[in-house]
Amino acid sequence: MAAISGAVGAPHARIMGIGAYRPSRLVPNSEVVDAIDSSDEWIQQRSGIRTRRFATPEETIQVMSVASSRIAIERAGISPEQIDCVVVATVSHLLQTPAIAPAIAHELGTGNAAAFDISAACAGFCHGVSLGADMVRGGSARHVLVIGVERLSDITDMTDRGTAFIFADGAGAVVIGPSETPGIGPVVWGSDGEAYDYIRQREDWRDVVGSEDSPGSGVMPHLTMQGNPVFRWASFTMSKVAVQALEAAGVAPEDLDVFVPHQANMRIIDAMARSMKLPASVRIGRDVADQGNTSAASIPLALDRMIAEGDARSGDTALLIAFGAGLAYAAQVVTVP
Ligand SMILES: CC(C)(COP(=O)(O)OP(=O)(O)OC[C@H]1O[C@@H](n2cnc3c(N)ncnc32)[C@H](O)[C@@H]1OP(=O)(O)O)[C@@H](O)C(=O)NCCC(=O)NCCS
Repeated sequence: MAAISGAVGAPHARIMGIGAYRPSRLVPNSEVVDAIDSSDEWIQQRSGIRTRRFATPEETIQVMSVASSRIAIERAGISPEQIDCVVVATVSHLLQTPAIAPAIAHELGTGNAAAFDISAACAGFCHGVSLGADMVRGGSARHVLVIGVERLSDITDMTDRGTAFIFADGAGAVVIGPSETPGIGPVVWGSDGEAYDYIRQREDWRDVVGSEDSPGSGVMPHLTMQGNPVFRWASFTMSKVAVQALEAAGVAPEDLDVFVPHQANMRIIDAMARSMKLPASVRIGRDVADQGNTSAASIPLALDRMIAEGDARSGDTALLIAFGAGLAYAAQVVTVP
């Protein structure tokens, strides 16, 4: 039996740089309410959302990804050729194959970086961060670009009262690279497939082939959601996962600076913070109010904004937790780049 050389990775991994892209079209609640017989007041009270952003036709998954990635790469202080792997978390790249990641890697000028998409819905970004950190530590890549990007407006039924006011578009990216000290804590992740149906694309699309909502027509099946059970699961079960991620990283709540939960809904964010008994000193990401729920893009968008507005500083300790369809979830403590 021949001896096989093992890969040698870095001692630790960290986030080196972050970038974000917010689509140009700002959509206030007043544009959404008529089709769902709702009101600005109801939407704000139930979700905390005042406005959201929808991409224009030119603001494609690739365009938004490349724009956010260029910023992240520049802030990381490396060149695109130094990226060894590109991981794109998305559920709204409308082709099942090929993945969008190789096209993004090529446009960025990464050379022949490994590139693939992952599908973990709103939990996708934290899954990607976990994969990236493991790659850097395991030696399969020195620098990994992780992108969370969505155009949920393409798969949202704007006449569905349960989802039309929630979902939105955008992109965020981070570069993960080597570090002498731990900058990304252990991931706490999992899935609850018993609740597979809580958030999903229409299950009856096979019955409606030929209608404008069917795959055969070129239109992707719309998202549907059981709002109440999702709300309860996210508010209570996910706060326990967030506490586990703190424990796994050995970080006490009073030593936490920043909390960046998935920007699903302001009521869920508030319920989580209460149930975790976070100290008042912890600054909490609340990007959902004017950005909407951008699924895989929501955490990097929220963290980038907190950095820009001075609510998160380089070196701060931040807890990230993402959760959504599947149901899938992932959480980890990171050092703010
Ligand atoms: C979607 C959500 C806001 C709906 O709120 P809810 O309180 O569960 O709403 P319900 O479906 O129980 O309906 C409550 C009432 O509001 C009405 N309603 C439902 N949608 C409405 C809308 N868009 N506008 C106005 N009224 C609406 C219902 O008709 C019902 O009226 P009734 O009491 O007169 O019968 C809530 O379930 C939620 O936040 N879920 C989590 C969603 C989320 O964040 N998902 C992302 C996870 S990744």
